[in-house]
Amino acid sequence: SQNRILIKNGKIVNADKMVDSDVYIEDGVIKMVGCNLIIPGGTRVIDATSMLVMPGGIDPHTHLELEFMGAVSVDDFYQGTKAAIAGGTTMIIDFALPSKGESLLDAYHKWRTRATNKVCCDYALHIGVTSWSDEVKREMEELCRLHGVNSFKMFMAYKGVFMVTDSELYNSFEACKELGAIPMVHAENGDIVFENSKRLLKSGINGPDGHGLSRPEEVEAEAVNRACTLSNQVGSPLYVVHVMSKAAAEVLAKHRAEQIKQYGNTKIYGETLAAAVGTHWDENKLTCWHDAAAHVLSPPLRADPDTPNFLLNMLASDKLQTTGSDNATFNKDQKSAGKGDFTKIPNGVNGVEDRMSIIWEKGVVSELFDPCRFVAITSANAAKIFNIYPRKGCIDVGSDADIVVWNPKGKRIISAKTHHQAVDYNIFEGMECHGIPEYVLVGGRVCVDEGQLKVVQGHGKYVPTPTHSEFVYNNEKVSEIEVVDESKEIKALKLQISPPSSVIS
Ligand code: URP
Ligand code: ZN
Ligand code: ZN
Ligand code: ZN
Repeated sequence: SQNRILIKNGKIVNADKMVDSDVYIEDGVIKMVGCNLIIPGGTRVIDATSMLVMPGGIDPHTHLELEFMGAVSVDDFYQGTKAAIAGGTTMIIDFALPSKGESLLDAYHKWRTRATNKVCCDYALHIGVTSWSDEVKREMEELCRLHGVNSFKMFMAYKGVFMVTDSELYNSFEACKELGAIPMVHAENGDIVFENSKRLLKSGINGPDGHGLSRPEEVEAEAVNRACTLSNQVGSPLYVVHVMSKAAAEVLAKHRAEQIKQYGNTKIYGETLAAAVGTHWDENKLTCWHDAAAHVLSPPLRADPDTPNFLLNMLASDKLQTTGSDNATFNKDQKSAGKGDFTKIPNGVNGVEDRMSIIWEKGVVSELFDPCRFVAITSANAAKIFNIYPRKGCIDVGSDADIVVWNPKGKRIISAKTHHQAVDYNIFEGMECHGIPEYVLVGGRVCVDEGQLKVVQGHGKYVPTPTHSEFVYNNEKVSEIEVVDESKEIKALKLQISPPSSVIS
């Protein structure tokens, strides 16, 4: 029957070990793991001989249907999650971003409305904090208490739009600490970027190359250092999104090492992107304006060709913990708004579909790390940091049946002509990747079946992410998250009291 599946003869890969074992699934949940399992008749059998059975990817960083820089990103919650599944990702975490002064709760509900009925896979939400007031703090509490939110993103760049001051960062970090939530930062010095951009435009540099020139590595590294310093002062955890440069990654690693030396563990986490390890800014290859503009995101792709390997080695040695896509896709005509002024090119690239393939190719095929580390950085670590492990990010009894059966012998060539995204380019165009998702199970439903994509719109659910410890709400200790949203799928979720530092074990 549809809801009973046995995956036979594969090699199960978790973040900590690999074992030859079968997996039995019933009603969307893993019920048994082992050999010679006794299973009911009518169970569908998937033969995974010589394939790897891994937790589906969790992309902790997407922007589907994002209104940004005068445009709306073209991959919405349907196209984006469909493409995610095609590539072996079974859950995304998107960012609900309020404009300055807009209510956080309104942004949260706006994003829930956009996602419901469209998502093909499960999703959670990070919420942006783009200004500071007592009301913002109260809304953060309510989001944690009633809406299953445990992460907030603050921007140190995009001056006048999303950027916050150091005081606002300090206060939001402190609020996160009190709530057991994770503060996330976009680390770039927005004032320097703003002034550099003005100077470059004045000197006649207005093409896409001006984007990278306006925000060099040290402008990213400075902000990473400042964010780490602020989180140290407050005593909060910190998650730095999209680490794009050697300099920034080094600063982050230095702060992690200092915390480990002082406390025996660290609560600083770093994410890099499929884009950052899959490509770089190559003047010689980016021959036309459109191609160059397609590669514009912030922080920018670096011109230093060593950057991808450097970041991959950081991922291998646990100096970075996660990989996102930062999927924020704008079509050629939308990017054209920046012709004559690079500051008006909508920022963002693709990656939600190709992230798993890129990390596999550049990391595992290149022998920089093993399949266990691949699972850690594409799935398990995000689940741990955002406190949904082992429900997600793990192949074990009781976990959701979000599974990718990976055929390491398969290969494909990435192209905008064949991808499942709505966007009309692909920054990884022409790249050959070894290893393909042969089957992808989303909540126990086979959504990639022998390589054939069969998604169901609206099949995905909102996944509440519990805060990291008991927290105080209205002077009352809260030990259970009760999500009040109307949705069918949400039940009270027992709070797992596991500190984010468990990731380093
Ligand atoms: O250029 C980017 N990264 N666009 C998406 C918004 C963000 O800063 O993550
Ligand atoms: Zn960002
Ligand atoms: Zn982003
Ligand atoms: Zn509500």
